[in-house]
Amino acid sequence: MAQDDSGSVELTETSSTAVEHAVEAERLGDPGTAIILEDAPVNPGFPTHRPRLTDTHPEQSRRAERTIFTLFYLSIAGSVWAIAAYLAFPIESGDMGDIRLSTLFIGLGMVLALLGIGIGAVHWGKQLMVDHEGIDIRHPVRGTDDTRERAIEIFEEANEESGFGRRTLIRNSLIGALIAFPLPAVVLFRGLAPQNQDPVKDLKHTMWAKGVRLTKDPTGIPIKASDVTIGSVFHVIPEGLNDKEDMLNQKAMAAVLLMRLKPEELHVSPERKDWNYHGIVAYSKICTHVGCPVALYEQQTHHLLCPCHQSQFDITHEARVIFGPAGRPLPQLPITVDDEGYLVARSDFHEPVGPSFWERNS
Ligand code: FES
Repeated sequence: MAQDDSGSVELTETSSTAVEHAVEAERLGDPGTAIILEDAPVNPGFPTHRPRLTDTHPEQSRRAERTIFTLFYLSIAGSVWAIAAYLAFPIESGDMGDIRLSTLFIGLGMVLALLGIGIGAVHWGKQLMVDHEGIDIRHPVRGTDDTRERAIEIFEEANEESGFGRRTLIRNSLIGALIAFPLPAVVLFRGLAPQNQDPVKDLKHTMWAKGVRLTKDPTGIPIKASDVTIGSVFHVIPEGLNDKEDMLNQKAMAAVLLMRLKPEELHVSPERKDWNYHGIVAYSKICTHVGCPVALYEQQTHHLLCPCHQSQFDITHEARVIFGPAGRPLPQLPITVDDEGYLVARSDFHEPVGPSFWERNS
């Protein structure tokens, strides 16, 4: 049967081709990953090794060694210098001259400390550590026991070749420099703490007090209740803030956001019944998470948003936290109006403003 014959011949040719492909694939490796390039680049090998002066001249080697440990000692001196500058130019007085000198000399000390370690380490690597070329064949990350033993050998070789164990002056000066370098940072952190003050007490009391008018930030213009329309929001500071010597510190504690909602939208607890004035409410602007200004008001939902870590506060429910990392509601400032219709505080806040940390320690 011609048709059968024809089919049989066709089948035989196909099988033969498949076998040839399989043999070829086995010869070349996995056909899915093998890449055969006719113009594959030729490995040029290592360039000719050129010994350095420190390899051939022992006096140059000693000179490099002296340079390196001098740099590490300079780094230690820089760290000590930074600490001494911190003590010599205290910034607590707030005097701008002292602050400038403190910044300048601490900065110089830290630059010296960092450059000493950096340049010394580079110099050590370039001048004294063995610089012969080597090949490191790629292998699976988790090595066999043999590989691990070899790693230890390599480590020991590196130790031997770099002279880390042998060149004790360099090694010890580097260790000293690395230990000394973070010390200025530890000392400098002290400057971040309030000086001779109890932060809990400080944050518990702000400029707000009975009868202090709410004024616009930054102009200090008093706000009449009739100026505050439903849906509006005001950035508020206490009257007289702009005349204070420590205006910024006071503002950081007393900044307030003022909003007006329909009175029926507010869910007010009995003890806060008279803390709002016809739907006008005032809340601390300092986020109870880590103290960023809560500056975004969503008029439709009456949510306040802190842009730092997205904490959200629901103004209709006494600024309770509805989203984000803040640990407690924004403190509310009790308000009313005076005889002339200006908004005034009924008292200071009833709890510390700012991060909940202070609340826990009160
Ligand atoms: S400071 Fe407001 S959410 Fe973190």
